[in-house]
Formats: sequence, C-alpha cells, structure tokens
Amino acid sequence: MCWAPSPAPPGARVRTYALEERWGIVWIWMGHAEAAPLDEIPDFALLGDDESYVSVRGYTYIEANYELVLDNLMDLSHVEFLHPGLRTEDPEEQLHEVRQDGDTVWSMRWRKRGIPSTLLQNFWPAESSDVHVHMRWSAPSNLFLDVGVTGVNQPESEGVLTPFAHLLTPAEDGKTHYHWASIRNARKDDPALDERIRTLANAAFVGEDKPIIEAQQANLTFAQALGVRPVLLGPDAAAVRVQRVLERRLAEEAKAEQAAEAP
Ligand SMILES: [Fe+2]
Repeated sequence: MCWAPSPAPPGARVRTYALEERWGIVWIWMGHAEAAPLDEIPDFALLGDDESYVSVRGYTYIEANYELVLDNLMDLSHVEFLHPGLRTEDPEEQLHEVRQDGDTVWSMRWRKRGIPSTLLQNFWPAESSDVHVHMRWSAPSNLFLDVGVTGVNQPESEGVLTPFAHLLTPAEDGKTHYHWASIRNARKDDPALDERIRTLANAAFVGEDKPIIEAQQANLTFAQALGVRPVLLGPDAAAVRVQRVLERRLAEEAKAEQAAEAP
C-alpha cells in the first residue's frame, strides 16, 4: 500500500485560535479568533521588555477552581496570617483601598512604619519603613502585584520594587495552572538570591496558599450541597468586584459566541 499527499477533503476543517506572545507569555483567545481583544492583554512588560528588572519564575497546580485562587489573591489581608516570609511586621498604620478602572480592579494596601518582610530584607534594612502592596486584576485571571519598600513617607516610586506576576489558567474542571514570577529591580545578578526567592515563594504559594485553597474547595463543595451561603467581609470587597466583572464578561462572551454560531 502506498500513500501520496493529496489535498485535504473539502469538509475537513479544524478551528483556529488567536495566539499572541508577549514578555515570554503565550496568550490564547478561546473564542472566535477575529473577536480576540488583543488590546486587552494586560501589561506585564516588567517580565520581558525592561532591563531594569529581572525575574524568578515558578509553577504549581492547584486542585481548586481558579475563582477561589482569585479570591485568595484579591484579599491580601491573608498574608499577615499565612505567610511569615512575606508579611510586614508590626506596622503602626494599615490602609486598604479598592479601585476600579473600567474592568480592571485594584486592591491596594499600605503597611506604614513597619519592619519589612523576610523577602524584602534581602534588599532593605530591618528598620521602620513603608511597604505598599497593590494587586491589579485583569480579566479573566491575570494579576500583577506591585510591591515596594521605601523609607517612611517617601514616594512609592523610590526605594526597592519587588513586584509579582500571578497568572492563572483554568485546567480541567475545578483545577488551575498557577504560574508566578517574582520580579525585582535590585541585586539583579545574584543567582544565590534567585534561589532564596524561589524557596520563599514556593514556601508561600505551594506550601501555604495551595493547601488552604484546596481545603476551601473541598469545604465549598460540601457547603454548597448543604445550601450554605458565604458571609462577605470588608476585605472581600475587591474579590466581589472581580466576580461581578467576570460574570458580566462571561455572559457577554457567551452571547457573542451564540451570535457567531447562528446560521
Ligand atoms: Fe497567599
């Protein structure tokens, strides 16, 4: 039997998707390619284009829905309880503000006149300082965390910046691929520090966040079966805004997909 190349049968077709590579990240739009909102790809330029910064990257697989991971990341009050290596110790003043710009949600925290975290002490002395931690969410699950430390009452643009990227991709039902990157603009050429940061970040995201989020997922499944409704607290404000935007965007996309499929 011999085989010879021939044109594809007229009825054979596969669906194609819009794909874009930026800053070492591959962005895919799972809807109709011509409707891909490329101008909505959020800014992660610090991961690729800006030579003032370097990054350490990691990955973990979370056995929980990506929306639970979003809840975790939008309420960073949990850092004080869950992450001894990342928390600011004994701040004299703490502020929290939620902002929304279109479909982008910010959860902004300040820890003023506190002792910087173990992570920040790689760049900054263990003395009274101001720390800012501002989480930016872009649909559906792309988060940029602006973290920095300065002297007391100094502008946030000064001092050391150690942002994070948190990129969540839904996997099979109720599971999440979680890619993270720790970025910095100080002590850039230091492989030993890269390794220390990788260890600290893994301890926080894999050793501390992952088991809590997975336990939440297990409890939530049980609670939903009982008809229990969650109680919302003040620090949930940013996560609630995220949820509202997500619900609206998913409904809009479903409607657009239906219209595109209609004969
Ligand atoms: Fe966390």
